[in-house]
Amino acid sequence: MRKYTDSEIAGFGLNPERIPAHVAIVMDGNGRWATMRGLPRGAGHRAGVNALRDIIRFASDIGVQALTLYAFSTENRRRPKEEIGILCGLLIEYFNREIDELHANGVRIRSIGDLSWFPTAVQEAVRNAEQKTANNAGLKLNIALNYGGRAEILHAFKLAYADGREPDEATLSTYLDTADSGDVDLLIRTGGELRVSNFLLWQIAYAELYFTDVKWPDFTRDAFIAALNDFAGRERRFGGLK
Ligand code: FPP
Repeated sequence: MRKYTDSEIAGFGLNPERIPAHVAIVMDGNGRWATMRGLPRGAGHRAGVNALRDIIRFASDIGVQALTLYAFSTENRRRPKEEIGILCGLLIEYFNREIDELHANGVRIRSIGDLSWFPTAVQEAVRNAEQKTANNAGLKLNIALNYGGRAEILHAFKLAYADGREPDEATLSTYLDTADSGDVDLLIRTGGELRVSNFLLWQIAYAELYFTDVKWPDFTRDAFIAALNDFAGRERRFGGLK
């Protein structure tokens, strides 16, 4: 739920007229952040969750309408069992610990991707958060878990056909996991890689892309403000002329 007035938003150095409605983030670099400090990779993921808390809060406070986070890709299933276990533990901890504050702020949580692959305890924690926040009208927080963009598009096609429809672009969009969050306006990737990595392929068709070398645990509110300002300065033509 937006908390700040226009002038308060301007006080952060942001243009209140140019806040993206839908922001998507590939939160990369946790592992390297930890390794650089001689810490186990899990410590990087834990630091990543801490960074996340402030970004979600700030996005909600400035009136971003939807925030979609890449927490676990289908490819991440290839990671060592131990690291997957740590990520699952962090997910459970996150959903259980943060849910009350998110709920109080009107955040509506949904997962996208195939949750059934995860251990039951993860599924329960996520479903509980979804149910508890289902009727909230504030920030739509979509968390991609065991998610892949191509699989999502294929799945949308199958759903449309099962409904007896041969989908056009507008119809297909309504069958995507993020249907009510709309297209992505700004895609941020931390960690220095210049890739999209199968994230929201359909929804980023006209997104502005922002890449930074900052590793996710170091992605502070100021780093987020820099990304939002970069977005605010872009000229969006959606393929047309100005
Ligand atoms: C990429 O860093 C990050 C991940 C694979 C996991 C992202 C997960 C979190 C930030 C925490 C869990 C999320 C929630 C919603 C509680 P990497 O390990 O690929 O880093 P590297 O490229 O440096 O190895």
